[in-house]
Amino acid sequence: MNYRHQYHAGNFADVLKHALLIPLLRGMQRKDKGFLYLDTHAGRGRYDLASAARGDTLERTPEWPAGVGRLWERTDLPAPVADYLALVKAFDRRNRTAAEAVDLSKPRFYPGSPWLAQALARPQDRLALCEKHPEEFAALRAELDFEARATLQSMDGYTAVKAVLPPPEKRAFVLIDPPFEDPREYAHVVGALREGLRRLSGGTFAVWYPLTERARVDAFFAELVALRPPPTWSAELTVVGPTSPVKMKGCGLVVINPPWQIDRELSPLLPWLASVLAQSPGGTADLRWLVPE
Ligand SMILES: C[S@@+](CC[C@H](N)C(=O)[O-])C[C@H]1O[C@@H](n2cnc3c(N)ncnc32)[C@H](O)[C@@H]1O
Repeated sequence: MNYRHQYHAGNFADVLKHALLIPLLRGMQRKDKGFLYLDTHAGRGRYDLASAARGDTLERTPEWPAGVGRLWERTDLPAPVADYLALVKAFDRRNRTAAEAVDLSKPRFYPGSPWLAQALARPQDRLALCEKHPEEFAALRAELDFEARATLQSMDGYTAVKAVLPPPEKRAFVLIDPPFEDPREYAHVVGALREGLRRLSGGTFAVWYPLTERARVDAFFAELVALRPPPTWSAELTVVGPTSPVKMKGCGLVVINPPWQIDRELSPLLPWLASVLAQSPGGTADLRWLVPE
C-alpha cells in the first residue's frame, strides 16, 4: 500500500471522476427515498495541494495544474462542470486561513469524494466510507467525524461491499476507486461487482479505471458484461494520443445502472473536458454503452 492520492489530487483523473460523480449523485436524488453512498476506497477526504509537490524523498511535479487548475478561472463551464467547480471552490475557500484567502487565483485545497458526497447528502441519505491505509484513514476521520450520517471504517473496501449491502434503504450508490497498484485489482473489482449485484441487483456501481493498457480495460469490460449487469455505460477521457509515451493516457468511469437518461446530460461534457484537459494532440472523450438501456 504505497499509493498516496495526495500527489494526484485534482489531476485530470479526479476532474473526470468528480465532475461525473456529482451529477450522478444528484440523479440518485431525483427520488425522495434516501440511499447509501458507499465509498470503498475513500482516501483522506481533503488534500492540501501545497504538499502535492513534496514527495517522501524527492520533489514531484504536481498534477493539479493540468487538471482542476485548467478550469479554475474559466467562465465558459458547462452547467455540470460549473456545479462541480463551485463545490470545489467552496471547499478550498473554507479550508484557507485569512492570509491564504487573499489570493484565490489558484486552488490550494481539493476535496476528496467523501467530502463531495457529504456536501450533497440529504438528511435521508447515509454514507459508508472505507479507507484501508491507517494514515489516510486518520485524516479522513479528522475531516468527516462530525458527520452523523457517515460511518467511517478502516477496512478493505471490497470486504465492505459484502458487509454493508444490501442496506436497509434498498438503494445504494457504490464508488469503487482503487489505486490499481496491485496486478489483481481488476479481479478484485469484478469480484466486488459480482457480490454487489448479487446482494443489490438494483444498486448503482461506479468504477474508476486508468487507461494504461487498452487491452486490459477491454478484458475488464468483457468480464463485467459477463456478470449480466443492468444497463451500463463507460465515460472515457484520454489526454494524449495513442502513440504518446505517457503511461496513463487517460481514464474512465464505468457506471452500472446509472440514473435514468443521465447520459444525455453527461455526454456533451466529455468533448469539452477533452479539449480543456488535453496534454498533447490526439486526446478524445466519449460515453458508450456496454449494456444498453
Ligand atoms: C484513488 S484513492 C481514492 C480517492 C478518493 N476516492 C477520491 O476520489 O477522493 C485510493 C485510496 O484507496 C486506499 N486503499 C488502497 N487499497 C484499499 C483497500 N483494499 N480498501 C480500502 N482502501 C484502500 C488508498 O490508501 C487510497 O487512499
